[in-house]
Amino acid sequence: MAETAKTAVLQEETRIFNTPQWIIEYSNSYQWMKKKGFKTEKEMREWCSQNYLDFWDEMAQTYADWFKPYTQILEWNPPYAKWFLGGKCNVAYNAVDRHAKSWRRNKVAYYFVGEPVGDTKTITYYQLYQAVNKMANGLKSLGVKKGDRVSIYLPMIPELPITMLACAKIGAIHSVVFSGFSAGGLQSRVTDAEAKVVVTSDGFYRRGKPLPLKPNVDEAVQNAPSVEKVVVVKRAGLDVPMKEGRDIWYHDLIKDQPAECYTEELDPEDRLFILYTSGTTGKPKGIEHAHGGFCVGPAYTTAWALDVHEEDVYWCTADCGWITGHSYVVYGPLCLGATSILYEGAPDYPDIGRWWSIIEEYGVSVFYTAPTAIRMFMKAGDQWPKKYNLKSIRILASVGEPLNPEAYVWFRNNIGGGQAPIIDTWWQTETGCHVIAPLPMTPEKPGSVAFPLPGFNTDIYDEDGNSVPLGYGGNIVQKTPWPSMLRAFFRDPERYMKEYWQMYWDVKPGTYLAGDKATRDKDGYWWIQGRIDDVLKVAGHRISNAEVESAAVSHPAVAEAAVIGKPDEVKGEVIVAFIILKEGVQESEDLKKDIAKHVRSVLGPVAYPEIVYFVKDVPKTRSGKIMRRVIKAKALGKPVGDISALANPESVENIPLIV
Ligand code: WT7
Repeated sequence: MAETAKTAVLQEETRIFNTPQWIIEYSNSYQWMKKKGFKTEKEMREWCSQNYLDFWDEMAQTYADWFKPYTQILEWNPPYAKWFLGGKCNVAYNAVDRHAKSWRRNKVAYYFVGEPVGDTKTITYYQLYQAVNKMANGLKSLGVKKGDRVSIYLPMIPELPITMLACAKIGAIHSVVFSGFSAGGLQSRVTDAEAKVVVTSDGFYRRGKPLPLKPNVDEAVQNAPSVEKVVVVKRAGLDVPMKEGRDIWYHDLIKDQPAECYTEELDPEDRLFILYTSGTTGKPKGIEHAHGGFCVGPAYTTAWALDVHEEDVYWCTADCGWITGHSYVVYGPLCLGATSILYEGAPDYPDIGRWWSIIEEYGVSVFYTAPTAIRMFMKAGDQWPKKYNLKSIRILASVGEPLNPEAYVWFRNNIGGGQAPIIDTWWQTETGCHVIAPLPMTPEKPGSVAFPLPGFNTDIYDEDGNSVPLGYGGNIVQKTPWPSMLRAFFRDPERYMKEYWQMYWDVKPGTYLAGDKATRDKDGYWWIQGRIDDVLKVAGHRISNAEVESAAVSHPAVAEAAVIGKPDEVKGEVIVAFIILKEGVQESEDLKKDIAKHVRSVLGPVAYPEIVYFVKDVPKTRSGKIMRRVIKAKALGKPVGDISALANPESVENIPLIV
């Protein structure tokens, strides 16, 4: 980590893109700034961060309704925060109930667009309310109670947000597992969460074909003794075996359920969900989030950073299997009573103009996606977006990894009509909502995430816990808590402390270490430089090297594996595996393919190693830790540094150059 300390900014981006005045004046954040009498954006951002408790209090009053008002904003016993003490709330009430009982009852909550062209459904807030209530009653009828965990393993169909909200309504804790994970990935997450119920579907549509999903659940649940029931949505018309006494069709479960259901009045700290994310060990970490924080953080940032208004048609392309889907497909937009698109399928089916056709058809005005998708479209060419009328777009936004300046300019010109600002949002599963991002009024530098948002005290520290001056870089930290912050790791308090709070505990206790490096240029603009740990970012998805390595090692021919990320034009990174075979096993191209396929079958398509190499040995420390950083440097043709302390320095020579 030492090399992160005070790295100087070498390259400077000098271009500035300004947002048209009408977009600025229309924006929620600008209107708030004017109302409060701040003269400049800088003055506003600074005041809100210095007075962060007052600021969050106002956001909590503005964006959420409380069954019982809270009496204390924050109780901070580092590393544990409690927000909105003494209050009662439920995020499902804020997201659904209150709209169903207001003028928004007939407003569209979701335009669902299935992958098969023409397979669409419009869901109003009142319809959403009924569907959530029926599923909530259905879950109750299966014995699900407050605090129980429900694993949700579904494609992007309406039943996914409906089941999340149904859990929230009755105080059950949802744990969504991305449907791109296979049986192994699902099994470890279901077992860790000790889920009572798994909700899945027969299958889903991908590139025109119905693909099965339920068999993964059957396999996973065999070794997950906590699971009592499996609920199955009929989506793809596939013939799937149903296990007597355990499996039940979703439509049968909700058929006779009443469309009214009591909404639990919860303590703001009651857990809303667990979401597993990858860390440096093979075991995924279950990040816990709370109801109170989720009533506030996502809604505030959906309104301020994404600038979603009542009359917008908003589309966040993320899958609910990731945090972006939780915060910006479900809780943020629904708490605002917004209208969103929910799209099931691939971006390139039936052709690579599909997304632009959806924007044209529904008049999407705020569009939130990921750099990997933008780069893929850029590669496919301007002719695709040119076929469609994209004039409805007012705001563009990006998340997941750095948006390179070239992609920024392409996105702005080809999708944003050369007008729309691009809100590049830096945040994490752990933060629950955006932390660093431009506002529509911010002059933008392509590739920069601009400044920490109002309410956050984000800084860059060197190794000793000193804030680095402008022009230098280091570790991103949070100096004060925020409502939608992670509360804990599910049943692993030690790891929670170690990974996020230990680093600066002796000098500045209560400092959150994000795990990313960043620099600030002379104007104070923030530039994200990537992770400080061994975590891969493949198509914006966080994948643990260690998890892929242990999947590879479970192949009968493999003795040991080391996994690194290789920079890729479209995906950001692709997975490269260096494999040491067991004694006597013959190397062959077929075996490479077989190992890659094996990893895919264990973890799912998200973790597929695109490149496999056989090596005799990999560099290790004397304690046996694989030195991925050394492997990566050698493989990419960069200086490997001092390797004299390695147990086997000669192994470095065996690592092939892969660029
Ligand atoms: C990590 C968090 C947060 C939703 C999606 C990913 C990287 C995220 C940006 C950005 C550069 C970014 C960081 C972060 N990251 N947004 N705008 N620019 N890097 O969630 O899986 O929890 O990953 O994604 O490295 O730590 P996640």
